Amino acid sequence: MRSVGIIGTGKYVPERILTNEDLAQLVDTNDEWIVSRTGMKERRIAAEHEATSDLAYKAAVRALESSGITAEQLDLIVVCTVTPDMAFPSTACLVQEKLGAKKAAAFDLSAACAGFIYGLATASNFVKTGIYNYTLVIGAECLSRITDYTDRNTCVLFGDGAGAAVLGPVADGRGFQSFELGADGTGQELLKIEGGGSRLPASVETLEDKRHYIYMNGREVFKFAVRIMGSAAEEALAKAGKTKEDIDLFIPHQANMRIIQSAIERLHVPVEKCVINLPRYANTSAASIPIALAEAAEEGRLSEGDTVVLVGFGGGLTWGASVITW
Ligand code: UT7
Repeated sequence: MRSVGIIGTGKYVPERILTNEDLAQLVDTNDEWIVSRTGMKERRIAAEHEATSDLAYKAAVRALESSGITAEQLDLIVVCTVTPDMAFPSTACLVQEKLGAKKAAAFDLSAACAGFIYGLATASNFVKTGIYNYTLVIGAECLSRITDYTDRNTCVLFGDGAGAAVLGPVADGRGFQSFELGADGTGQELLKIEGGGSRLPASVETLEDKRHYIYMNGREVFKFAVRIMGSAAEEALAKAGKTKEDIDLFIPHQANMRIIQSAIERLHVPVEKCVINLPRYANTSAASIPIALAEAAEEGRLSEGDTVVLVGFGGGLTWGASVITW
């Protein structure tokens, strides 16, 4: 088995900014409530002409540039998303075409906000076993397209963006040390979009009932998140033969500042070692961890040999954590 790691990262966020003040014009909310309950201040919104594959493509180009690998060298593209351009073909196929990654296999992966960790686990195994040399994992979302901007419970939380990572062989002992993935389908009702699938195809009724928008039981998801962020990270650390004290950089899913705070308290991670960008981007689901990772790299926060912990959770319910030696 080969050692495999992240050899390049990139991100793209749309230009348009939606602030808390803007949201207060749309629904009965205010900056004080949003900041104190979530930590969010603004989020990015895709332009009318942009869809998830466009965001994904731009993040991928930057990740390829930083890796020194060309699109032609890619063997596999995995796009983790709950907002594909369309039901099929997959967004990964659209990105493959835009990149000109002619020899790459391509598929989408659906694990909601834990999608990027699931994607890393999947794509890294192809490199580890020698089946492939270079794989590209992208977390990309246009959540603004599935958000009900008349529902104050959800519309303040979500934003659009994309982050990408190129995976390839690395020196022995470096790269991914462990993965911890999990799912609990008994929580399927807590966070979902019901409309437009095979159980509830799009109809006049599903549109009228707003079944094509995100539904979330925020309080229950919050409780689950607080429990699972710490435990998933601890499991991944144990599998890697490491302890909380070894963590040099902690990159959590950016769902709520209070959830992140409770996770770093449990893991005894000082806030300086935690990547937090939710004030600027809010929750971008599968894109949140790779965007944060790309920003950490841009800001020089990742040094060779660092122990990096990624952890995410989301609809399904799903969760995932990974320990990486950078
Ligand atoms: O990546 C996907 C995973 N999703 C998450 O991780 C989200 C997890 N959940 C959360 O982050 C929090 O539950 C929320 C931020 C969604 C809500 O915070 P909360 O402290 O759990 O508030 P709450 O749901 O208990 O609501 C408290 C009050 C309610 O009013 P009443 O019923 O007590 O009168 C809400 O109607 O706050 C009200 N409220 C708002 N008020 C102003 C809900 N949304 C808003 C709003 N502005 N935007």
